[in-house]
Amino acid sequence: MSAANDTDGFGWVSRTIHWAMALGVIGALGFGTYIARMEVNLSNLWMFAAHKTVGITLLALLVLRVVWHLVSRPPEPLPAAPWKSAVARWAHRAFYLLLLAVPLSGWVASSATGIDTVVFGRWTLPAIAPASEAWEEAGFAVHSVLTKLLALLILLHIAGAVTRRDGTLRRMIAGRAA
Ligand code: HEM
Ligand code: HEM
Repeated sequence: MSAANDTDGFGWVSRTIHWAMALGVIGALGFGTYIARMEVNLSNLWMFAAHKTVGITLLALLVLRVVWHLVSRPPEPLPAAPWKSAVARWAHRAFYLLLLAVPLSGWVASSATGIDTVVFGRWTLPAIAPASEAWEEAGFAVHSVLTKLLALLILLHIAGAVTRRDGTLRRMIAGRAA
């Protein structure tokens, strides 16, 4: 099992990042929705901190993924009808955009609350927005809308992945299409 990607398949590094992020993103969507319905208080503050830790980790994984794909080019998609290939290409671009914008908007909004963004209970990140109610409201509104788009995109992506019977899914799980 090779670490690097080649023209025929995904190495284990790309596959591990893909599935770790898939798990983390789906988890953060569910958990984020859960905590957003709560009034913040001293007993549930740790849940918000946990969500921030997961979200910032996902942002770090995204950077790692982009750097890795520059070092080790992923394989070309398997041939498909032109419209399907185009939808997949745009969906993947939209993923990269949202996987950047969602955690950044969360970080902006969190900064605006004036509460420190601490990851793993240990490292305090700098504030990237002024402490202000207007920034906080706008930041969380953007964060909320973008997470809904991300959830829709995931549904489209899963539908595309499981309906293709050409080894595309196997390639992301086992490395090779056949
Ligand atoms: C890929 C990463 C992330 C995902 C998928 C995600 C997802 C979500 C979702 C679905 C919600 C609920 C939105 C709503 O229904 O209004 C939410 C809320 C929240 N997110 Fe994130 N988030 C991510 C990253 C972050 C980051 C990096 C931070 C901060 C550093 C953050 C801070 C928050 C906070 C504080 C809330 C609660 C907002 C409230 O109380 O209304 N999120 N997130
Ligand atoms: C939930 C969060 C997910 C995100 C953010 C995500 C993101 C991506 C992205 C950006 C790619 C393009 C290749 C790359 O950059 O690595 C990709 C490829 C792929 N994903 Fe996902 N994915 C997710 C979940 C899933 C799930 C649940 C499945 C399976 C049901 C899946 C199946 C695949 C397959 C088969 C490919 C390879 C496509 C090809 O070879 O052209 N993904 N994913």
